[in-house]
Amino acid sequence: DKLHNLLRDLPKVEAHCHLEGSLEPDLLFELAARNNINLPKDDEAFASVESLLARYGRFTSLDDFLHYYFIGMTTLVARDDFEALAYAYFKKAHSQNVVHAEVFFDPQAHTTRGVKFETILDGFEKAQERAKQDFGLTSELIVCLLRHFSPADCHQAYLEALPDLQNGRICGLGLSSTEKGNPPHLFKQSYEDAKKRGLRLTAHAGEEADVSYMRSAVDDLGCRRIDHGIRLKEDPELLKRFAREKILVTICPLSNLELKSIKDISELPIREYLDAKVPFSINSDDPAYFGGYIQENYCAVQQAFHLSVEEWADILINAVALSWCSDERKDEIL
Ligand code: HPA
Ligand code: ZN
Repeated sequence: DKLHNLLRDLPKVEAHCHLEGSLEPDLLFELAARNNINLPKDDEAFASVESLLARYGRFTSLDDFLHYYFIGMTTLVARDDFEALAYAYFKKAHSQNVVHAEVFFDPQAHTTRGVKFETILDGFEKAQERAKQDFGLTSELIVCLLRHFSPADCHQAYLEALPDLQNGRICGLGLSSTEKGNPPHLFKQSYEDAKKRGLRLTAHAGEEADVSYMRSAVDDLGCRRIDHGIRLKEDPELLKRFAREKILVTICPLSNLELKSIKDISELPIREYLDAKVPFSINSDDPAYFGGYIQENYCAVQQAFHLSVEEWADILINAVALSWCSDERKDEIL
């Protein structure tokens, strides 16, 4: 398919990738050895890179994945570890012609283990600078609140990130982890404060849970972007509103497939969103865990939907236009 080559060569923006989800098994084991981290001995998956990858290939749900995701990131300890993680992602993304990336990170998963917030941010920032220098790749950090913690704990994490949200080292606020049972409105205190300060807001919603979580993220939290957001077919009125208000949905096809939100890529609402002009982008989510980076996600969509060049142009233009980079940078990319 000629389009696959075109998709590879096109400059791309990624808006939904968790840096901790780009931790490849070989780096995971290397960091575990360096930092004397005990990986679970009672889980044979951690016997080798091969057995771990094989286990990643059998995820049954979001929570089944999150179990491995949170164990994996316990190997990240020093500033250099965070730098190595992020730089490896930027390098791989650049190899697939990503020119701008907005990446999530989960400070609560590290600070609760005794890692200092500054250690995380310093490491990521160093990698951002090097990626800019080495590849011309620009990037922004989005801090995620982990919704399996209490709203009060999340608010403390928000307050810890607030100075860097205000000085621009962090570009926006997100919400991730176990979705069902942790609806967006519970985290209103943090989002209301962030909104009052004019900060950029997104949240994971409509991944495993129903479309009411998407509505809550928009109405209760004031989000202008929704991560995953594949449930709009369940609420035609909300679907129209996303189109009208240009609320970007960051779709992650291989993630949805691997975590069994869908049985086949063809179940994604790509055709419906294109027809209704709901802006969306295609992203990798946790590329080290789901068997592919952004390019593999683009190709999976192309294979299932056979989109035209014009349709891909619309998708790419929306991804750039609704990204959180400067207008100057948008002009450069487009
Ligand atoms: N959903 C929720 N939380 C996450 C995800 C996801 O897909 N990836 C990393 N944290
Ligand atoms: Zn995600």
